[in-house]
Amino acid sequence: MEERIVATEESSADDWQYSLRPRRLSEYIGQEKAKKNLSVFVKAALSRHEALDHVLLYGPPGLGKTTLAGIIANELGVNFRPTSGPAIERSGDLAALLTNLQERDVLFIDEIHRLSRQVEEILYSAMEDFALDIIIGKGPSARSIRLDIAPFTLIGATTKAGALSPPLRDRFGVISRLEYYSVEALVEIITRAAEILKIPIESKGAAEIARRSRGTPRIANRLLKRVRDFAEVEGSTKITDDIADRALSELEVDRAGLDHTDRRMLDTMIKKFRGGPVGLETIAASISETRETIEDIYEPYLLQLGFIMRTPRGRVVTEAGYLHMNAAPNKKLDAPKLFDFEQI
Ligand code: ADE
Repeated sequence: MEERIVATEESSADDWQYSLRPRRLSEYIGQEKAKKNLSVFVKAALSRHEALDHVLLYGPPGLGKTTLAGIIANELGVNFRPTSGPAIERSGDLAALLTNLQERDVLFIDEIHRLSRQVEEILYSAMEDFALDIIIGKGPSARSIRLDIAPFTLIGATTKAGALSPPLRDRFGVISRLEYYSVEALVEIITRAAEILKIPIESKGAAEIARRSRGTPRIANRLLKRVRDFAEVEGSTKITDDIADRALSELEVDRAGLDHTDRRMLDTMIKKFRGGPVGLETIAASISETRETIEDIYEPYLLQLGFIMRTPRGRVVTEAGYLHMNAAPNKKLDAPKLFDFEQI
């Protein structure tokens, strides 16, 4: 798959963003509901001198789950130990991580839905009793010993809460859903990043980038950097809305944040399938992508915008989707308007 500037996955080119990551809850913009609840639970855990209850963060990629987990560790004044589901291959890997934790540390497991069953089972007693059940030996002489570990907080992150097994999900005391960011919150994030990186930007320029960032800070920061390149080459001292608009059009990021693949998908659905309903497999074959890529990468944002809908008979382009593509709908459809791009 080619590299998309609007990709939600972290890329090596995003390393510079580490300096932009907020370290305290007070610096973290947006996600008000999650932030408010978490700050209460952190304060309560601190006053009781106990480990914070296990936390599950879920929501689309790029919304700051890792950042938030790091902030929680910071606020608790403990070590932050990050890892990921696919990185923990054997139960011994997890046992090593768990036995090295200090009292009240935060163990962060990204993509926790990708843990193997075997590894997951080790987690159950670790989360519930702060103990590891280890089998020593094989066959009839095998015996199980119980090893105590320090009380800790597991923070799990996933883009697919539904993919988590019920026994694992039930062991999280706090379950927090991260939402796409509003344009206003993204304006604040872009303005903060521009200040840190010393990029002069007008508020209208920040708004133009924010509107086209798919509700995702990771994309907003990446677009800011690309627009800065354009401004510098043009000899402009400040990012204005005009420069942002021209730079993003040049990068094929349209006014709603869609790139050429999103547009190709909508265009194919409209022109080849009269707007649907059309099955995911059929869409995937028509634009030479896999079903998983469409489902995990392209579709969530188009659904969020209300440009397409899921129906039992397949995907359908909504009236808003037709309008965005400058096409005449062949039937009336009411799409929920989740994002108002005209607001700012
Ligand atoms: N950078 C990326 N995400 C952020 C957020 N939620 N708040 C502040 N800065 C950010």
